[in-house]
Amino acid sequence: MNEPAPISTPVPRRRSHFKNWISFAGAILAIGALFSFALLVWMDFTSGDKNPYLGILTYIVAPGFLLAGFGIILFGAWLHRRHARRHAPGISHFWSIDLDRPRDRRNLVIFGTGATVFFLISAFGSYQTYHYSESTQFCGQVCHVSMGPEFTAYQRMSHANVACTECHVGGGAGWYVKAKINGTHQLIAYLTDRFERPIKAPVKSMRPARDTCMKCHWPDKFQGNIDVTHQHFLSDKKNTPYQVRLLLHVGGGKPANGPFGGIHWHMNLDNKVEYYATDGQRQQIPWIRVTHKGEEPRVFRTADFLGEPSAGQLRVMDCMDCHNRPAHVFPTPNNLVEQAMALGHISPQLPNIKRAAVQALTQEGIRTTAEAPARIAGFLRARYKDAPGLPAAIAETQKIFSVSMFPEMKADWRNYPVNLGHKDYPGCFRCHDDKHVTATGRKVAGSDCQTCHIILGQGKSTDLSTLDPKGLEFAHPGGELDPELTCADCHNGAIQGK
Ligand code: HEC
Ligand code: HEC
Ligand code: HEC
Ligand code: HEC
Ligand code: HEC
Ligand code: HEC
Repeated sequence: MNEPAPISTPVPRRRSHFKNWISFAGAILAIGALFSFALLVWMDFTSGDKNPYLGILTYIVAPGFLLAGFGIILFGAWLHRRHARRHAPGISHFWSIDLDRPRDRRNLVIFGTGATVFFLISAFGSYQTYHYSESTQFCGQVCHVSMGPEFTAYQRMSHANVACTECHVGGGAGWYVKAKINGTHQLIAYLTDRFERPIKAPVKSMRPARDTCMKCHWPDKFQGNIDVTHQHFLSDKKNTPYQVRLLLHVGGGKPANGPFGGIHWHMNLDNKVEYYATDGQRQQIPWIRVTHKGEEPRVFRTADFLGEPSAGQLRVMDCMDCHNRPAHVFPTPNNLVEQAMALGHISPQLPNIKRAAVQALTQEGIRTTAEAPARIAGFLRARYKDAPGLPAAIAETQKIFSVSMFPEMKADWRNYPVNLGHKDYPGCFRCHDDKHVTATGRKVAGSDCQTCHIILGQGKSTDLSTLDPKGLEFAHPGGELDPELTCADCHNGAIQGK
């Protein structure tokens, strides 16, 4: 008897859950994103002149779409599986891999290769995204309205090749994450146009100098003296040149590297200076405490400050309390005009041009960067009609405005004091002013005119041909100095008394 041929019960064909419209759409998105990513990477590597937005597209937007595509594929498969399970409950819908099945083996190879390629691309992508989000381009150019002033100033300075994040973030994962969270807040504020104008300085969350500045600069290696010459022109008809040549006693942290002490005394690890400031910009300092290793702390205070600051209000002095604008200083109109005159870009032959150019820059009512050139030209033309050298003077003055004054962001020398010095801002005289005394009446050491620097020569350039090694008494060109006034009481970076 013939056995009836075994009826092969039809094994329900396993249908891939990925075969559905949603996953299909996801796949198209992912493939599209992958191709765009490849193209953008190629553009990023080949284009010389970098467009700041290219980076955003390449390393943030395209990978975002790629991931979204993969997400949609998985979501489609999940929906499909749920649907199938509801409508055909008898069938096992568990994902199962059976290596005896050729189809499964083939799928596994395809999947494995795909996953490896994807991981390699995402590793490369994340690395690039990390670099991009740390780049100067990202910080300075993408948020070009808010950070534009700092970016413009930065390009003119000696840290122009040091990335913003070297000072603003530094190394270490914790600070990276903190900076990204902070940065996201800033980006949202930027996109919704709710950022501060001017952006507040000092940055309270700035990392201590030991983790940033001191990764490149070693206090041990500081030099002895620095010789600097300041070229000025007086605000008189003849634009009389006036120079000061100073020998600054910068000092060092190690006797082996030249004179010990000096200005960098503050950074000697054996000394700790803490202070309390009453204003946001740290310009008013009524209370200072100095701790020398192995000695009792010494407190200096001004006569009108009777309180006692709490520990949380104190700041430990570091590099940034003097070098507070190492990378993006907004120089004063006075200094920039003098510099342009010294270089011959503005002719000192134009009578009174020093004063007039500074006045043109600081005239009332320039509210936007766009209107500045016309206003400056109008101001100077009204004064000089068609004097020779005027067009060059106008062009240079306009240029000075464009690199140092940013009305939209209220970013210029008025809102960002420079603490290195004492002429136009209180600077060193915030503490070294003879007004801070201990309970026993001792003043802050180093507050006389000879401790920080000596004047080697001063006056017209001819007066500088002989230098005085012992140091000259300062011959103030604006008349005798009143000891009751500090320099910044009169000097404000523009025309005195204005
Ligand atoms: C050499 C170090 C350094 C570099 C490089 C640097 N900064 Fe700064 N930045 C500082 C310091 C110091 C401050 C002031 C902090 C303080 O006073 O507490 C500051 C402050 C700022 C502020 C607050 C507003 C202001 O102007 O004070 C902004 C915005 C800023 N930096 C943006 C940038 C951008 C954008 C770049 C890159 C183009 C950059 N910085 C590069 C050190 C640096
Ligand atoms: C990534 C390395 C790096 C970091 C971080 C760094 N600098 Fe510099 N710094 C440099 C380089 C490079 C120069 C330029 C040297 C030259 O041109 O001779 C320089 C120059 C300087 C100068 C002399 C030139 C000038 O502008 O007067 C000062 C002062 C200075 N840095 C202070 C600082 C301070 C303060 C910080 C921290 C807020 C800092 N630097 C962070 C690398 C760095
Ligand atoms: C008490 C204020 C003060 C402190 C604090 C201070 N500096 Fe200075 N530093 C100066 C002055 C003033 C100069 C003189 C040169 C100048 O005017 O640029 C100078 C010069 C320098 C120079 C050489 C500049 C050049 O033109 O060659 C470097 C680099 C420097 N400082 C880095 C640092 C670093 C890094 C720190 C923190 C460890 C620091 N300084 C702390 C005041 C200070
Ligand atoms: C926050 C307050 C503060 C600021 C700002 C400050 N200093 Fe000092 N400085 C001190 C104190 C406090 C001492 C130690 C004085 C003492 O022990 O009597 C000191 C000491 C010094 C010394 C050493 C004096 C000596 O006996 O050898 C020099 C030089 C000096 N400062 C220069 C500067 C210069 C330059 C600046 C500005 C770029 C400056 N300081 C800014 C507080 C300050
Ligand atoms: C606590 C340190 C310190 C003391 C005290 C001090 N200076 Fe200065 N002085 C500086 C520094 C720092 C600079 C800026 C140097 C630079 O960066 O070129 C400076 C700059 C100057 C300049 C050049 C300004 C310019 O723009 O041409 C003159 C002039 C000057 N000081 C005179 C004096 C006189 C006068 C006294 C006494 C009343 C005095 N200084 C006391 C630290 C000091
Ligand atoms: C009573 C106000 C007053 C005080 C205080 C004062 N100056 Fe002057 N200073 C003037 C005047 C006015 C001029 C002449 C301005 C001109 O012709 O451009 C001048 C000119 C100068 C110049 C040359 C021109 C320029 O624009 O830079 C220097 C440098 C200078 N002063 C440094 C100082 C220093 C440093 C101190 C503090 C030790 C100081 N001044 C304190 C009023 C003052």
